[in-house]
Amino acid sequence: MSAVTLDGRVAIVTGAGRSLGRAYAIALAAAGAAVVVNDVDADSANAVVAEIEEAGGRATAVVAPVGPAETADALVAAAIDSYGRLDALIANAGVLRDRVLWKMGDDDFDLVVDTHLRGSFTCGRAAAVAMKEQGEGGRIVLIGSPAGQFGSFGQTNYAAVKAGLVAMARTWSLELARAGITANAVVPTALSPMTATIPAYTELYERFVAGEEIPHEFRHDHALGSPEDVAPLIVWLASEASADVTGQAIGIGGDRLTLYAHPTALDTAYHDGGWTPDAIDETWRAQFADNAQISGPQ
Ligand SMILES: NC(=O)c1ccc[n+]([C@@H]2O[C@H](COP(=O)([O-])OP(=O)(O)OC[C@H]3O[C@@H](n4cnc5c(N)ncnc54)[C@H](O)[C@@H]3O)[C@@H](O)[C@H]2O)c1
Repeated sequence: MSAVTLDGRVAIVTGAGRSLGRAYAIALAAAGAAVVVNDVDADSANAVVAEIEEAGGRATAVVAPVGPAETADALVAAAIDSYGRLDALIANAGVLRDRVLWKMGDDDFDLVVDTHLRGSFTCGRAAAVAMKEQGEGGRIVLIGSPAGQFGSFGQTNYAAVKAGLVAMARTWSLELARAGITANAVVPTALSPMTATIPAYTELYERFVAGEEIPHEFRHDHALGSPEDVAPLIVWLASEASADVTGQAIGIGGDRLTLYAHPTALDTAYHDGGWTPDAIDETWRAQFADNAQISGPQ
């Protein structure tokens, strides 16, 4: 029996019908929380609720797209109406619309922004209002991605929202500290239909779905495991044990756990009276070029 327990707590998980969100909802419920299971797909949301109930847990489904404030309000209302309180929000729902910049349509951009960024904003805001009113603190977990940390070819929309979500968590950690509400970003990696869209992992995903064990090399070197491998970090961040942890970006996948730094100043130069393009060029080559940052997966 783990010392980390969520007995008596109530959590919302968005996009919880499959993959990572499903694993989070099931793990939170197994740790003792009652869970509001959100997804746009009714069948999968209801199936997760049934799975939790069959295991002796408590869950209720809310089928609606995150993005609009009305959905956020409905999720918070479901937590309070069904279970009397709200302790944790896991804003996990997400979509991909990958295209290189010159082929990316406005609709591809807007859907990704609406789902991830607006969806996390509206749910986070509604949760913060309810948690402040409750007066017992709370937990908000936003979901980043390596794409947001490093940039990712073909993912203008996705990389931008995921970087934005880490900045949002760090901002909320400042704004919500007095209320005892923590805000952290999890940067997960796991085999899911989303990872299967990456050509290098399509075959591994198929083998995983067929029931094959994930090779140690992928679990260790690529931080790629099952969705269930990510869930313990979500449980910990939703629990009392992490009350002093806020404003962090923490990566998890397979066998790897990572603490990400803030973007940090690697080097600094001064030019009395201000800089000229020529002086910048000289300093770039003489001092900064060796530290130039590499974009893409690290
Ligand atoms: N799989 C990975 O390795 C990985 C890596 C980095 C980040 N992430 C992030 O983790 C989250 C979950 O990823 P996944 O791999 O489980 O994805 P997935 O596509 O397997 O599952 C996403 C779920 O969200 C639901 N959904 C989509 N739009 C929604 C909306 N507007 N409202 C409510 N539900 C909605 C879908 O129906 C689906 O059930 C996403 O935010 C994703 O960006 C995943």
